[in-house]
Amino acid sequence: MNELSIPRPNNLDAFWMPYSDNKYFKDTPRLLARAEGMLYFTPEGREILDGTAGLWCCNAGHGRREIVEAIQKQAAILDFAPTFQLGHPIAFEAAARVAELTPEGLDRVFFTNSGSESADTALKIALAYQRARGQAQRVRLVGRERGYHGVGFGGMSVGGIGTNRKQFGAMLPYVDHLPHTHLPERNAFSKGLPAHGAHLADDLERLVALHGDTIAAVMVEPLAGSTGVLVPPVGYLKRLRELCDKHGILLIYDEVITGFGRLGTHFGSERLGVTPDIMTMAKGLTNAAVPMGAVAVNNEIYETIIRGTAAGIEFFHGYTYSGHPLAAAAALAAIDIHVREDLPGRVRAIEGYWQEAAHSMRSAPNVVDIRDHGLIAGIELAPLDGKPGERAMRVFRRCFDDGLLVRVTGDIVALSPPLIIEKHHVDRIFTTLGDAIHKEAA
Ligand SMILES: Cc1ncc(COP(=O)(O)O)c(C=O)c1O
Repeated sequence: MNELSIPRPNNLDAFWMPYSDNKYFKDTPRLLARAEGMLYFTPEGREILDGTAGLWCCNAGHGRREIVEAIQKQAAILDFAPTFQLGHPIAFEAAARVAELTPEGLDRVFFTNSGSESADTALKIALAYQRARGQAQRVRLVGRERGYHGVGFGGMSVGGIGTNRKQFGAMLPYVDHLPHTHLPERNAFSKGLPAHGAHLADDLERLVALHGDTIAAVMVEPLAGSTGVLVPPVGYLKRLRELCDKHGILLIYDEVITGFGRLGTHFGSERLGVTPDIMTMAKGLTNAAVPMGAVAVNNEIYETIIRGTAAGIEFFHGYTYSGHPLAAAAALAAIDIHVREDLPGRVRAIEGYWQEAAHSMRSAPNVVDIRDHGLIAGIELAPLDGKPGERAMRVFRRCFDDGLLVRVTGDIVALSPPLIIEKHHVDRIFTTLGDAIHKEAA
């Protein structure tokens, strides 16, 4: 055991691993035991470059001292206090700090513990708002094919990834979906926003024709990550916004991965130039050091729900850990870093280099599309005959063994490194990935 090594667990049986091939993993475990900056380390101390910011969440890099110390300090001051009919100072402070970063008008912040909880909370807020403003018939929720909004019944139902839904029965009623925006025949190898596909938002007119005034909200990721990086076509979000306004429908952005700098602005909405009524967040909010999510809503929605209730609880929803003191402390420290180190500015400074490096993969074997925006890239591979997902999974494993963490979804390699990345890391990511793609083609 060298100085950096951490013992491997003796028993891998009890932990039922989420979103994992448990059988494969437990036969061939790949463990991450420690992290610092841009790097993970295996239990033996082998270095793994983090090409995915964990799971799109450690935007400021790993092991940030300010965050660690803020959590330690807060644990000694107040470990826990309820936020039901009571409050503690740091939760209010954290909400105010989040509201400084959200787009103008989205100033009210509801805390959750994850992206999934944020998605379900946002949907519930939309329904409660429509009811409070006298539109109780608006009970329908619209998502988009290939959308990902976590694993709660709301987010899963509105989400549009078939594999995430098929084991779980009927799900929520009164849900419909817009078409996804993936048009490889017209947009393959686009740099940044693809040119074609704005018209796909017009499908909302079809849903309104079908469902009348029963639609409460449309929820989309401004840039869809988990499905394998689908960048919104030029003009698409603007069109969606116009149609929502025209038909009295709320627009919800799921900013769980696009929040906190990833697209070169505080939130994706700013970079993409279209503001929603409600936005979810999680992940980068605390740099993932303590689980926390949040939903920011515009003042009108908040006021309508709060003033619409004569007395007593206005919104029958909340989590024991909403605004948890340790999470709030982590959020404040993470936001301090985000602002002080201008993480969005760092993204804008390096995204051109990142884009060129990502698109250099075009000449690698079996690469059928490359998509990027901000510090995100998706490299799509042709599937192996009769084995969808297998080629990318082999690339993932080879990258890990060669010292690089990537994420795969289907046959797409998705990259989303910490925002503190430097050019030499970018070079290393794409050299290692390119080698892995070549070796797996051989
Ligand atoms: C857009 C989006 N929404 C929701 C979630 C779910 O977040 P969590 O895993 O924290 O519940 C994710 C996770 O990747 C996500 O990308």
